[in-house]
Parts: sequence; structure tokens; C-alpha cells
Amino acid sequence: MSEAFDAVDVIAAKRDGRALETASIRWLVDAFTRGVVADEQMAAWAMAVLLNGMDRREIRDLTLAMIDSGERMSFAGLGKVTVDKHSTGGVGDKITLPLAPLVASFGVAVPQLSGRGLGHTGGTLDKLESILGWRADLSTEELRAQLAGVGAAICAAGADLAPADKRLYALRDTTGTVESIPLIASSIMSKKIAEGTASLVLDVKFGSGAFLPQQERAEELARTMVELGTDAGVATVALLTDMSVPLGLTAGNAIEVEESVEVLAGGGPADIRELTLALATEMLALAGLPDADVAAALDDGRAMDAWLGMIRAQGGDPEAPLPVARESHQVLADRDGVLADQDARGVGVAAWRLGAGRARQGDPVQHAAGVRLHAKPGDVVRAGQPIATLLTDDAARIPRALEALEGVHVIAPPGTAIPPRRLIAARIA
Ligand code: URA
Repeated sequence: MSEAFDAVDVIAAKRDGRALETASIRWLVDAFTRGVVADEQMAAWAMAVLLNGMDRREIRDLTLAMIDSGERMSFAGLGKVTVDKHSTGGVGDKITLPLAPLVASFGVAVPQLSGRGLGHTGGTLDKLESILGWRADLSTEELRAQLAGVGAAICAAGADLAPADKRLYALRDTTGTVESIPLIASSIMSKKIAEGTASLVLDVKFGSGAFLPQQERAEELARTMVELGTDAGVATVALLTDMSVPLGLTAGNAIEVEESVEVLAGGGPADIRELTLALATEMLALAGLPDADVAAALDDGRAMDAWLGMIRAQGGDPEAPLPVARESHQVLADRDGVLADQDARGVGVAAWRLGAGRARQGDPVQHAAGVRLHAKPGDVVRAGQPIATLLTDDAARIPRALEALEGVHVIAPPGTAIPPRRLIAARIA
């Protein structure tokens, strides 16, 4: 079959900084999906995009082309409004776990199609798989039934959702082309739009634990994604949030589930509760419930009931004990003072090296592994006090995790005032 375009011409046009016409973008994605455009050509094109960018129309064309490479789901006829949340990923970011049942407790459907972790940020499915019996894979019928019933489902995205993005993302991962705003925005939004949600709240992270650490770049990504969602008819709002220190006091899998359950019981760390409430408020406003009292639903057990229903619906036993690590190692404060900083990236890498994350797609993770923190920036610490506990099933992993933690905990002299951080830096709509 003769092809409408030549891959080398399309790559060269972007290499030379030209905007690509709609037809050539659609052809490129389709031909890549059919195997006509080779991996090395697509990688060269991705590098040209990384270096020369894309305009709003090109990004929209790319997103639509990736959506059209697979199936488009629809939750029409469910009898409920749907709203989804996506986070660009961070250290200790377990917000989806309390958030989905909290929002569902207001009668809204939350189809939370999630991924597994790669690198130093954890994956929501890996965390939930530490619950006995819980399964991530739901058929479309099971997903619909769960949304109609309990209202929230956190499950794996099917292979047919934007398959072109899956292949392109795997290529970008190995060719230094992840950090491109047009490529990230189209990758995330193609999956979210294909998923068929009516509205979407984005949690776009900046700071050392985020994959775009610079706040200005994260803000540009947020704006680009909000534009893409709006152009596609999905009501989209983004919060720009600080990921320079870990969220909460845990980074791992089972220990993050445990902390999420504390939040669902009305307690838990203040930052996790704050972000959960802020995102829930945005989601419910998009779903037509701007006055929902989300704090009350956390405090009076409604969100917990939805959590129990959601976990049981996917075969999980929410009462079963969570796995416990075979080995642990405490990190002690080396002086008296005030914890001034706690670099998120270092904590994330340590948790990953302890076995909580994977180096390659498909590797297993240790559910009990991770880092438990005992202090947050601003807390007074005393010499010899534990500031972190490393958890793993394999003691040989501890030395490399300790290396990752070097310099992470900065202790300022006693009495130093540490200005509180603003967790939510901006709202973009
Ligand atoms: N997550 C995605 O799904 N795609 C990207 O490009 C980056 C993060």
C-alpha cells in the first residue's frame, strides 16, 4: 500500500522547526501503530519535538491521533456524572487512594484508570496490590458495574486505550525524550480523554520529586493539558502542587495504604488530608456539587465506607493485615535542631532501591518495602532520634538506599524558624 507521507520528510520538517500539518501527524501516529514507521524513526521524531516544540494545534492533533489508535470508552448511560483525577506523580503520592472513595461517597462516578510505578515515583496499582486478594484488572463490564454501584474503581488501563501512546512512551523512556511538554501533555491527555470521563482534575507536581522539577515548566505543562482537555470537551482544572518534600510520612506500597486508611478514618498527616480535600473539592465542583462538605465525609466515615466497598468489589480484604518487611534499619538524627529540608527525590530513590519500585517494566515489587519518615520539615529533632526507618525484605538493599538518603535530611540549628511551604501553589483553569 502506498503511504500518504514519507517518515523522513515528517522528521526533517520538525527537525527544521516547522509546524506539522494535521494530516502528517495523523499519518505518523497511524503508520507507527501499523509498524510502517520504525522505532528509530519515531524516536528521532520525538527528539525533534523535544528540541523544537509543537504549537497548540499540533499538540491537539497528536493527542487525537493517539486516542484514535485504540478504543474510546464511554460512561454515558451510567446515570452518574463521571470525574477523574490524574497526578503527574511524586514521592509518597497516595492521594488517589483516599480521594476516589471520598468523591464517590457523594454519588459521583470515579473511574480511576491507573498505572504501575517506574523509577522513583510509586504506582497506585502497586500500592493497592499489597492488599490481600485485590486485583487491578477489571473488564469493561466489571468497571461499569462497580461505578454504578460503589461509585469508585481504581484499575489498570486496558491495552486498547491509546496503544500508540504506550509504544511511544516506552520508546521515549529509553531515548531521553520523556521531558518534552507536548509529548507529556499528549501522552497523559490521550489516555484521559479516551477513558471517556466528563471532567478531569490534574495534580501537576513541581520540585525535586516531580519529573519536571522547575515550577515554570510544570505550570506550562498544566496549561497545555488544561487546553487539551477543554478543546476535547472535557472540563479540566489543574492544581500546581509542591513535590520538593515527600507527601505524608511514607513512601512505599503497603505503608502508603496504611497511611491512606488513616486519612480515610479522619486522621493522617496534614498535607495528605489538605491535598485530598482540595482535589475532592475541585472534582465535586466539576461534577456540579460546588458546596460539598468533603471534610465531613472524611470525618464521619462515609469515605471509609466507600473505600471498604471499593476494595471488596475488586476481591480485596480490607481487614487483612498488610505485609510487613522482614528487615528494617533506622536512620538517626546526627544533631539537635529543626528539620529544615527533606528532599523528595532522595527519599523516592531510597524507597525504590529498597524494592518498593521497579527498574524495568514487568519487574516485581516488594509490597512491604519503603521508607517511613518520623519527622517533617519544621519539626524539632534531637541527636540520636530516628528520623526515618528503611523497610525491605532484602537486607542487601539497605546500603544503596542509605546512599540515596545522604544529604536528604537537613537539620538547621535549634530555634531556626522554617517557613511553612505552600503545598498548592496555583490553580489553572
Ligand atoms: N506519564 C505519562 O503517561 N506520559 C508521559 O509522557 C509522562 C508521564
